[in-house]
Amino acid sequence: MLRQIVTLAAWLSVAGAIPVWPEIAKRQGQPVYSSNGTLVNKPNVTEFTRPNPSYTTEQLTALKLALTAAERVALLASYGSPDDYFKFDLTPDGSQSNAANGLGGQGYLAHVGNYPVLINTGISVAIGYLNPCGLDSIHVHNRANEMVTLVSGQSLRAGFVLEDGYDQPIMVTLGLYQSTIRPQGSLHWEFNDNCVPAVFVASLSNEDPGVSRTAQNFFINPQEVVDANLAYPSWLDNVNTTDYRAQLPAAFAQGAKDCYARCGLTYETAQAGGYSQSPPPATNSTTSA
Ligand SMILES: *[C@@H]1O[C@H](CO)[C@@H](O)[C@H](O)[C@H]1NC(C)=O
Ligand SMILES: *[C@@H]1O[C@H](CO)[C@@H](O)[C@H](O)[C@H]1NC(C)=O
Ligand SMILES: *[C@@H]1O[C@H](CO)[C@@H](O)[C@H](O)[C@H]1NC(C)=O
Ligand SMILES: *[C@@H]1O[C@H](CO)[C@@H](O)[C@H](O)[C@H]1NC(C)=O
Repeated sequence: MLRQIVTLAAWLSVAGAIPVWPEIAKRQGQPVYSSNGTLVNKPNVTEFTRPNPSYTTEQLTALKLALTAAERVALLASYGSPDDYFKFDLTPDGSQSNAANGLGGQGYLAHVGNYPVLINTGISVAIGYLNPCGLDSIHVHNRANEMVTLVSGQSLRAGFVLEDGYDQPIMVTLGLYQSTIRPQGSLHWEFNDNCVPAVFVASLSNEDPGVSRTAQNFFINPQEVVDANLAYPSWLDNVNTTDYRAQLPAAFAQGAKDCYARCGLTYETAQAGGYSQSPPPATNSTTSA
């Protein structure tokens, strides 16, 4: 044990010089973004990694029924390599985990539905790849507190509104390797107000965190309820809110137009399609990469 600690300390003291395994190093390249902010060189996941495994209904049922963690781990170990069943890949464009996709970037989530080793752990994790000026639009996690940590990029603006009784959001600007909290149930967003991409890690306190996009789930309601909720504003005169909802951008939307102008990027006015963003694919679906 002591020797292990000494070895670890030695490694840490030369951290900058630690060689990276070639097969891992191949995966470390930064995604490249075109001038309009679109991710153009999605890593070739076939080359860089293996797809996340899929599970049969029988396997999922057995995992769910396992009475002890040890039984569950033994089942998973019996399915194949630990590198498949105890490791999850959140590579951009990776398989089985795409949770959000828009002109503002992409989000990937490892949760109990696609990574059943999480059963009974109470945790899940996501990685958000935000394009320059990308916005993870206003949403709520129904069942999880969240910590958001910026791991690549320049900065990340983040805000949340806890509940009724506030007259402004609580906002921070994260620097690299800084983290902030999004309390369970709070309305929140993350905005990469920069001309370079940003990557953040979202740690979630529930294996099934859930997400509810605010605008999408507001405008899903009957027209007269939406109108009444907003006191029949004149800007909604002659607007069919069902049709309007169909114009909302996908979860990772383009952010403020100011940012696009400052960065010389094109803001696409037509970002329709966000309302139909489906949840992460079922665990037994074929790979989406
Ligand atoms: C952005 O640029 C890429 C590469 O040039 C192109 O394939 C894509 O269609 C463009 N996206 C939009 C929304 O114009
Ligand atoms: C991705 O990598 C695989 C395996 O190396 C290769 O067969 C395939 O042609 C690559 N695809 C592209 C689009 O480069
Ligand atoms: C996958 O799930 C579908 C329902 O979503 C089910 O019909 C099918 O039998 C499942 N396949 C396997 C291999 O478990
Ligand atoms: C709004 O448009 C949808 C079709 O897009 C239609 O089904 C619905 O009846 C319309 N609502 C109103 C209040 O006109």
